[in-house]
Amino acid sequence: MQLNLTQKILENHLVKGDLKAGEPIALTIDQTLTQDATGTLAALEFEALGLEKVRTQVSASYVDHNILQADHKNPDDHRFLQSFAARFGLWFSPPGNGICHQLHMLNFGKPGCTLLGSDSHTVHAGGLAMLAMGAGGLDVAAAMAGEAFHLTCPKVMGIRLTGQLPPWIGAKDIILELLRRLTVKGGVGWILEYFGPGVEELNLPQRCAICNMGAELGATGSIFPSDQTTKNFLTNQKREADFASMAADPESKYDQVVELNLSELEPLVACPSSPDNVKTARELAGVPLDQIIIGSCAHSGYGSLMKAANNLKGRKVDESTRLHVNPGSRQALAQISMNGGLVDLLEAGARIHQSGCLGCIGIGQAPATKTNSLRTFPRNFPGRSGTINDQVYLAGPEVATASALFGRIADPREIGFDPVIPDPPDLHPDALIPPPEDGANIKIRRGPNIAPFPELKPLPEELECKVVLKLEDNITTDDIMPAGSSILPLRSNIPAISQFVFHNKDKDFAKRAQNYGTCVVVGGENYGQGSSREHAALGPRYLGVRIKLALSFARIHRANLINFGIVPLTFKNPLDYQNLSQDETVVFTGLVGAILNGEESITARVGEQSMTFVLEASPREREILAAGGLLNFIKGNISD
Ligand code: F3S
Repeated sequence: MQLNLTQKILENHLVKGDLKAGEPIALTIDQTLTQDATGTLAALEFEALGLEKVRTQVSASYVDHNILQADHKNPDDHRFLQSFAARFGLWFSPPGNGICHQLHMLNFGKPGCTLLGSDSHTVHAGGLAMLAMGAGGLDVAAAMAGEAFHLTCPKVMGIRLTGQLPPWIGAKDIILELLRRLTVKGGVGWILEYFGPGVEELNLPQRCAICNMGAELGATGSIFPSDQTTKNFLTNQKREADFASMAADPESKYDQVVELNLSELEPLVACPSSPDNVKTARELAGVPLDQIIIGSCAHSGYGSLMKAANNLKGRKVDESTRLHVNPGSRQALAQISMNGGLVDLLEAGARIHQSGCLGCIGIGQAPATKTNSLRTFPRNFPGRSGTINDQVYLAGPEVATASALFGRIADPREIGFDPVIPDPPDLHPDALIPPPEDGANIKIRRGPNIAPFPELKPLPEELECKVVLKLEDNITTDDIMPAGSSILPLRSNIPAISQFVFHNKDKDFAKRAQNYGTCVVVGGENYGQGSSREHAALGPRYLGVRIKLALSFARIHRANLINFGIVPLTFKNPLDYQNLSQDETVVFTGLVGAILNGEESITARVGEQSMTFVLEASPREREILAAGGLLNFIKGNISD
């Protein structure tokens, strides 16, 4: 049978279920990654499983999100993660070394393997022909324990690339064009597989950047074939042995095919405040910019930085704006230093920061009030920058570089953008720390910021809960559990961080939820879009939220809700969404029985009327919900 590339990797890793779209399946996981914002919790969860060592081919713990050390909390967490990694057999990447996805691509990405990461942009590694997926930290902790990853078998969308890449067009324009056409919901339930003659036009970091923002489409994953470009990349990284040629069979089929002609693309920009709010740079030319940042896991490698440096050489950043450069890895920073790019950036007036996520997660670089910021980041959801009512535009390094010269959005054709750069110098200064042979005697370091994982009780049979908050469509995980420099350091302290749930929308939420005791949150379509942040499920659960009612859920957030024992129900009759108000009481009877019996319709009483909700969950997910969460469930089922 002729298989596409996704089907081949799925088949090689399938341990449960049939490869039919929409069916529950389970896959073995070869590699895992965690970052500090989600990794401390994943580490506490892994410890709670009581194993001696991780059971994957490669597991890596990166510190890249919250690398400021303003008080003891972050450094305590970093030392905790380093000692955890050494104790249990993970690679460790210290703060300042770079962004997890850039580093994983450079050091561990391997064609044909599966990768599960506690970060939604784990999909980045799809550029290396990996089946790379984002998940909650608890799923990643389970994968580190050798457990299979359970998911709904996705459909495969073939993206056929044709034509030639014009010099002023880059990876961002390709993925923004797909976001323009498909929207932030268009990839839900799909893996996007790129194929066709246009694939050869793209270098490996560009392929990864395109896969990276598949997360913004809501896709389960994105994947490119592994070819000579992949081989050259791995050879440059001194990892030629990791290469394997992989592609779809010539007669294989896709569930849907989207045609994209690279020659016809225009430089694009996503406008505030959603990555699918896309216009051409030409249309937006003239929008003043107070700040421009080149960086993030999508566009911070040697190629992105060197292209910016080459095109800024001998020119000056306009004095009305500020250009920030956040390298994605120590390797990229060293390489542009050696090639003279760093000096060109400095002479042009750019501010150079340490390697890491920084402004992308609201750690520094907040824009000034009522100003526009243009960033090469993957997402621009409201408030993510750290500034309330922010106006963040997204574009590739080509548009960002041209815009820096004018202090306004500019089309790279205005400066005759030249994409040609020298080959990267042979430098590999990453400070990755390998795991010791035997970490059994290593003592784990715990500062006062590390609180024990809270006990989560099983689901009760009868549930009387009050609507603590009713929300609109497209609520993001940033809305639910905001990021930022005052909140992120509390990520390993659930009682403390949960006080910030919905903080930017409703400052009294935490107090009200705890007063209600048991409560329900109501949302519209695409509830929980955005990151894999499991605190957005665990925080509400800690405060007493046992049910979420929505018109639809984003994939990773739905999985996180189940993992923490919150029942994700959708409205059978969408009109009931209109009829349900804040502070009403919703009463479920026989809930656990209905869940375990596999019933799809769950009925509840709201005042005098009854409302029916839908629970789409596999038998395993139903058992997890009844147990009160995945940790309770796997503790009882883990194999020796
Ligand atoms: Fe970091 Fe932003 Fe990527 S927070 S992992 S650079 S999306």
